[in-house]
Amino acid sequence: MPKISRLAPAKVNLYLHVAAPDARGYHPLRSLVVFADYGDEVSLSPGQGRLTIDGPFAEGLSTGEDNLILNAVRRFEAATGVSVDRHDIHLTKNLPVASGIGGGSADAGAVLHLLREAYAPDMSDAALEAVAAQTGADGVMCLWSKAAIAEGYGEVLTPVEVPSLAAVLINPGIACSTPAVFRAYDAQGSFEPIDADISGDFIAFLRTTRNDLEAPAMALHPLIGQILRALETYEDARFARMSGSGATCFALCDTEADADRLAARLRQDWPNAWVQACMLK
Ligand code: C5P
Repeated sequence: MPKISRLAPAKVNLYLHVAAPDARGYHPLRSLVVFADYGDEVSLSPGQGRLTIDGPFAEGLSTGEDNLILNAVRRFEAATGVSVDRHDIHLTKNLPVASGIGGGSADAGAVLHLLREAYAPDMSDAALEAVAAQTGADGVMCLWSKAAIAEGYGEVLTPVEVPSLAAVLINPGIACSTPAVFRAYDAQGSFEPIDADISGDFIAFLRTTRNDLEAPAMALHPLIGQILRALETYEDARFARMSGSGATCFALCDTEADADRLAARLRQDWPNAWVQACMLK
C-alpha cells in the first residue's frame, strides 16, 4: 500500500462549562467544540511499525511507548487482534504540545482512521470510537473532528451546525498541565451552571458563555491573561477566549482577510508566541 496521510486538526473549545468534580475527581462538562483547517499531519508508509516525528514542535516529544500515537496503536491492536507491523508511522508536529487544542488526541484519532484503512477496513465506526475513547476524554471528539456539543466528561457528542469562523490561534509558549488547571479550578470552590443553548447572533451568544478553566489557567500562568487582554484591543478581533485548559487562546474575526491581518500583527507584537490563522468549523 502506498503512503496514506491524514490531517489531525486543532480543536477549539468555543465555550467550556465545567461542573464540580465527581468522586473520581473527573469533571462533568459541556463544551462547544469546533475544528481548524490546520493541524498535525500523520502518515503511514511501508515499514516495520516505527514512529518518527518532525515539524516545529517535534522537540521533546517521545517516540517511545508513552507517545499518544503508539498508545493508540497498541489499543487498536488489542481491539482488533491485528499486529501493526507493515507500516512506519510519521508525525509532523505543527501544533504546540499541551496547549488546549487537542493535538495529542487529534494525532491518536488520525492514526486510528489510517490504521482502520490499512489493517481493518471492516471495523465499524462504533468499534473505532471505543478505541479512541480509551486514549482520553477528548479522544472521541478528536476522532470525528466535527463541530459538536460535548457532554459527559467530553465523550458524549451531539453534532451541531456552526457558522464557518475565521480565527487566529495564539500560544505564548507555555505548556499547561490539564490536571493542574483542573485542580486550580476545584480550589476556586464555586461552580456555575453548565447549560447553554445556541441562539441568535453567534458571537453575541458566545459572549453569554464561558471557559471556566480560563481563570485558573490565568492564575497559574499570568501571561495567558495578558494575551487575552491584548487580543481585545485589536480591531480585527471580534471575540477572544482561551481554548481547553490552555494556554492557546483564539480570536474570532469577521473574514479570512481580517484573520490573516491580525495574525501578522500578533507575530510582530508577540515574537515569541506561536500564531496561526485558520478557519474553524
Ligand atoms: O482524559 P485525559 O487523560 O485527557 O484527562 C487529563 C486530565 O484532565 C485528567 O487526569 C483529569 O485530571 C482532567 N479531566 C477532568 N475532567 C474531564 C476531563 C479531564 O478532570 N472531564
